[in-house]
Amino acid sequence: MQVKLKVYTPIQNLMKNEFDAYADFYDKWNENFISDIPLWLEYARKCGSPVLELCCGTGRILLPIAREGIEITGLDVSEKMLDKAREKLNQEPEEAKKKVTLFQGDMRNFHLKKEFNFIFIPFNSFLVLLSTEEQNNCLRSAYKHLSSQGRLAISMFNADLSRAEGVLRSEGDILEDYPQEGDTTEIFSYQFFDKPKQIIKVRFFVDSTKAGGELFRKTIDLKMRYFFQDEFEKILSSNGFETVELFGNYDKAPFKEDSPFMIFVAKKVLS
Ligand SMILES: C[S@@+](CC[C@H](N)C(=O)[O-])C[C@H]1O[C@@H](n2cnc3c(N)ncnc32)[C@H](O)[C@@H]1O
Repeated sequence: MQVKLKVYTPIQNLMKNEFDAYADFYDKWNENFISDIPLWLEYARKCGSPVLELCCGTGRILLPIAREGIEITGLDVSEKMLDKAREKLNQEPEEAKKKVTLFQGDMRNFHLKKEFNFIFIPFNSFLVLLSTEEQNNCLRSAYKHLSSQGRLAISMFNADLSRAEGVLRSEGDILEDYPQEGDTTEIFSYQFFDKPKQIIKVRFFVDSTKAGGELFRKTIDLKMRYFFQDEFEKILSSNGFETVELFGNYDKAPFKEDSPFMIFVAKKVLS
């Protein structure tokens, strides 16, 4: 079978807002990733309204929280991701719709003129902030918006530095009937570590095969700054937070060296 390859998102020509590139297939890609939702629901219930999700994307977590009758604001930089969230919100019952406010904005600097009892940044989203200045700006903005008894939670992967570099792998992400009926889309990726800078560089190939075998490829690059436990607790501390809980997984297992995640829950240190 002859395979025609067409690259329609050249690597050097990525969109200005790189997260727009994920919007079309993000939900299909992540439909089986639900293991984090119960933890976020638990904290949203425990801390109470209002809640703020930074980097809310398509509302994967925000909508289940709103369905519980909790008032939630979602902030995201990508208008396309927010459009998907709005489309989904329109399908929700009126009661849930009333609980949601969506803002296009940047987690590095936002002014919502409101305090929240729970602020969270899920699913590695904080890691896109590559510089210390960006990380501090985000945490400073979060600090200003957190109520005195509130909680800030940030979840990220626990970097596995033994993972092979430059090896194209499939995590079994196959999207049927995307982008069109009859198409099959597979997502492959490979990664390199910049260990001195603690940056992981991932390149995704989003390969869509037509029924006739013709292949279309979309290429997306992502850089993430990974952290270590002690380092991140110091970053939180230097921005006025004290870590009160640290989990290694969404079932609240205590963090260990080989845990898949680091989920920090912090409170404000009040002077
Ligand atoms: C991995 S997705 C997570 C979406 C959602 N929280 C979830 O768990 O499904 C990361 C999101 O972060 C958003 N994002 C990236 N940089 C941002 C920034 N500086 N400010 C606000 N949102 C940002 C992207 O647009 C994207 O929607």
